[in-house]
Amino acid sequence: MNQTVNEVKSIYSGFVAKHYDRSMSHFFARLKKKAFSASSLKKGDRVLVFCCGTGLDFPHLLKKIGNEGSIVGVDFSEFMLKQAQKKIEKKKWTNIQLINADVTNFNDASMGKFDAGVCTLGMSIIPDFYKAS
Ligand SMILES: C[S@@+](CC[C@H](N)C(=O)[O-])C[C@H]1O[C@@H](n2cnc3c(N)ncnc32)[C@H](O)[C@@H]1O
Repeated sequence: MNQTVNEVKSIYSGFVAKHYDRSMSHFFARLKKKAFSASSLKKGDRVLVFCCGTGLDFPHLLKKIGNEGSIVGVDFSEFMLKQAQKKIEKKKWTNIQLINADVTNFNDASMGKFDAGVCTLGMSIIPDFYKAS
């Protein structure tokens, strides 16, 4: 993959971000449901979601971790995060924090520890994906 960070960012800008859920959610909803329900995530877990996009993983995660768990979603597209924020407000989720950052350069010790890290449909499009691991 030879795309630069700016090229990837520009893909996930206005139009794509706005229509992402409508065009993508049905493709992966079943697989996400299967994968997350088979995961070892449990009630109360704190989960870091890399490349969270519009937050399509959040409902699946919340089903596993419950209201007592929490999620930190990281993405470098302000447009995708805006859609995620709308979803959080609409659903009245109070245990999700969003951070605008590049996951290849995200090392905020003040965030503390997480029980799990999740990245769906993200690693393959990160130009320097080794840095995100
Ligand atoms: C295909 S979307 C996947 C979104 C979500 N995980 C899902 O399953 O719907 C890829 C996301 O990765 C984000 N992304 C790509 N490279 C990134 C990086 N280096 N740091 C943060 N976010 C990144 C994009 O902005 C985009 O929101």
